[in-house]
Amino acid sequence: MTESLHGVTGSGAPVVTIAEIGRHEGETVVLQGWLYNLRESGKLLFPIFRDGTGTIQGVAHKAGVAPEVFDALKSLTQESSVVVTGKVRTDKRAQGGYELDVEQVSVVQRIDEAAPYPITPKEHGVEFLMEHRHLWVRSLRQAAILRIRAEIMRAAQEYFDSNGFVRTDPPILTPAACEGTSTLFPVDYFGDEAFLTQSGQLYIEATALALGKVYSFGPTFRAEKSKTRRHLTEFWMIEPEVAYCDLDGLLELAENFLAHIVQSVVRRRAADLETIGRDISKLRVIEAPFPRLSYDRAVEMLNQAYRDGHLENAFEYGNDFGSPDETWLSSQFDRPVMVHRYPADVKAFYMQPDPDNPRYALCVDVLAPEGYGEIIGGSQRVDSYELLKSRIEAHKLPLEAFEWYLDLRRYGSVPHSGFGMGIERVVAWVCGLEHVRETIPFARTLNRIFP
Ligand code: 4AD
Ligand code: MG
Repeated sequence: MTESLHGVTGSGAPVVTIAEIGRHEGETVVLQGWLYNLRESGKLLFPIFRDGTGTIQGVAHKAGVAPEVFDALKSLTQESSVVVTGKVRTDKRAQGGYELDVEQVSVVQRIDEAAPYPITPKEHGVEFLMEHRHLWVRSLRQAAILRIRAEIMRAAQEYFDSNGFVRTDPPILTPAACEGTSTLFPVDYFGDEAFLTQSGQLYIEATALALGKVYSFGPTFRAEKSKTRRHLTEFWMIEPEVAYCDLDGLLELAENFLAHIVQSVVRRRAADLETIGRDISKLRVIEAPFPRLSYDRAVEMLNQAYRDGHLENAFEYGNDFGSPDETWLSSQFDRPVMVHRYPADVKAFYMQPDPDNPRYALCVDVLAPEGYGEIIGGSQRVDSYELLKSRIEAHKLPLEAFEWYLDLRRYGSVPHSGFGMGIERVVAWVCGLEHVRETIPFARTLNRIFP
């Protein structure tokens, strides 16, 4: 099939990817890709090709190839698309361990020097790169990050799929808020007001009571009006929900789930972690159990840090943690730390109060190490009808929109718990990135909905 594509492969040799080229040592193969870079040294050309799975250096000697092949190679510009035939040779010094002795080239599209590829190997500002995100994703570093992202999502689903969870997909168009009314994106729904979902939680509470252990995985939306390195307006969340599960059970689920994801990336994406310069030793230690820290104890730590001059502001008891607080707290541990039992007042309406002290909620925020902060938020859910109804009223949420949700407490209510994990926050941590904008193919933020 590929052989006949535009008639460009010509040679009839097998089409292979750079990732699997090691299996074709000594053979003549065809690569379908792009010119990444071209170096000349006298009568030698060293083109570097990329094909989406990796890069390989080609070698062509003026005396060793047909003149038209040499000329075609020599005139290739960065990111011109090209199909190359060549012989695979082991080279210990080469990145990846192999080189390609070029025999033939078919140029699919040559980019004219007059309008060259905009992203050159020289430095570009982040704004410029984000404006050209559709091209920036071709860079080796960005491609590696996207492969790691894909592995994180694969491993996350694998964990649930192989532990008895059923994936149930909640709606994206919803009639009501799950995570507070201040970050809702309104949609005109045939004359009625609807909203893009902030979380699938309310719906998977329903499917959990139907199926026991469930999860959802999809895009979620928050009209976040803040510009931080942790916030997107559109992000992907994976959320488990478990019937007959309490907060302790949820903490165990969270630590085993996260350890599985990180170790899968270490095992299967080591080369990509190396490409982006990630210190893998920091990931290898991510094994259960994770430290547990009560909100009260976390506040003591923060105020001690303030007295010791590590933090600018004293922490006011009763508040939710801000970014600097989370950054400092999470940098105190080499594994994710699970902060539990926040004051109920700063948390969502659906969280079960602690029976030992109802001012606290049976909830958890998992903060990733190295200063990354919150990657998971979850809780045990209110299971009493009366309490949930009064919470909905106290939060001034429209009762009619929640009648179906209250049904879950009218008919066979049980203790149940769940959490949500933001994929982009986890990608940022696992890859060691400064900002979430590089963790998703096309980031949506307060100031960006292009390209
Ligand atoms: O803590 P959050 O708001 O929790 C919920 O939405 C619950 N309903 C989840 C549940 O219990 N099923 O969000 C969960 C996670 C956060 O820990 C964070 O990783 C991510 O979603 N997140 C964001 N990621 C990027 N940009 C944003 N604006 C995010 N808001 C939340
Ligand atoms: Mg949260």
